[in-house]
Amino acid sequence: MKTRFSLFAALIAASAAVATFAQEIPYREYEPLDPYEPVVSGDLKLSGTYQYWKDPANLDYRMAGNPDENWKLNWKFMDPPFNQAVHGGHFAVDRGEKLFRQLNARGRFASCLGVRNHNLQNLRAGYPRWRADLKHVAGLEEVIEYCGGKQGRVLQNGSYDNSSLSIYLASLGNGQPINIDVASGPMKAAYERGRRLFHTKAGAFNFACSSCHTHNIGKRLRGNVITTIYGDAAHYPVYRTQYMLQSLHLRFTECNLDTRTQPLLPGSQPYTDLEVFVTALTNGYPISVPAERDW
Ligand code: HEC
Repeated sequence: MKTRFSLFAALIAASAAVATFAQEIPYREYEPLDPYEPVVSGDLKLSGTYQYWKDPANLDYRMAGNPDENWKLNWKFMDPPFNQAVHGGHFAVDRGEKLFRQLNARGRFASCLGVRNHNLQNLRAGYPRWRADLKHVAGLEEVIEYCGGKQGRVLQNGSYDNSSLSIYLASLGNGQPINIDVASGPMKAAYERGRRLFHTKAGAFNFACSSCHTHNIGKRLRGNVITTIYGDAAHYPVYRTQYMLQSLHLRFTECNLDTRTQPLLPGSQPYTDLEVFVTALTNGYPISVPAERDW
């Protein structure tokens, strides 16, 4: 009896010790942090794939497996809309324009979004940004939801209407280079958190974003070529035949689900941090929407 009791006590003590240990040192593994240099616009030598795409006329087709998919390796200019076909993204732009006109009848929506001097063209290229009224760094889609809400309109982040407003506003800035400043303050802090997250392993497969988007670029995954992360943010939201419009945060949920990681809510802080990180790596790339993806 005595032995049994002490065995039992020892078990309790041991499990308590494990619990404390787990709390103090949470389980985490990281990929090596790559030396990104976000303040310098563009990507040039940074992604390690520059050699394959620096001369568009001389792209190494083997990298993508298919000449039509070379843009995925870095040169996102090669993305549709340079495919002239009309697709769902164009209808989304139209929908966004209609919603914008309704919401902005008295100019309140635009000024809430942060438009100054009617300069709508510059809006998209400068998001995510610090919002004093929200007291945090926010992406354009979060702000669309917030500003819609001020007029009693529900524009949930990730919904079709929210993303169509986002893609419409982006389309007004087509050709403008993405330009966010992560050199200091809350934007730098968000960038650093995002960079850390990008390299944090998670989920049933214990994959980090960088496991694929840095270390397996150009490889095939269920028929898809893994992109470099450089330049991706410049053509979001995209039209996806799978479910109409995909915002950048919805893309994150998709990549999380692919690796059996619990996805987060669009607009949540970790996703916004990731958005700041990937957008900083898109600095210098021209906005190009509406782009299309086939699945
Ligand atoms: C298992 C590998 C894998 C992991 C891990 C992964 N992704 Fe992806 N990701 C992909 C594939 C494959 C695509 C689709 C490429 C395509 O459009 O054909 C993709 C697409 C994307 C795109 C859009 C590319 C484009 O322009 O269409 C972004 C942005 C992105 N991922 C970000 C992330 C982020 C952030 C994480 C971490 C939360 C992550 N991914 C984790 C494989 C991965």
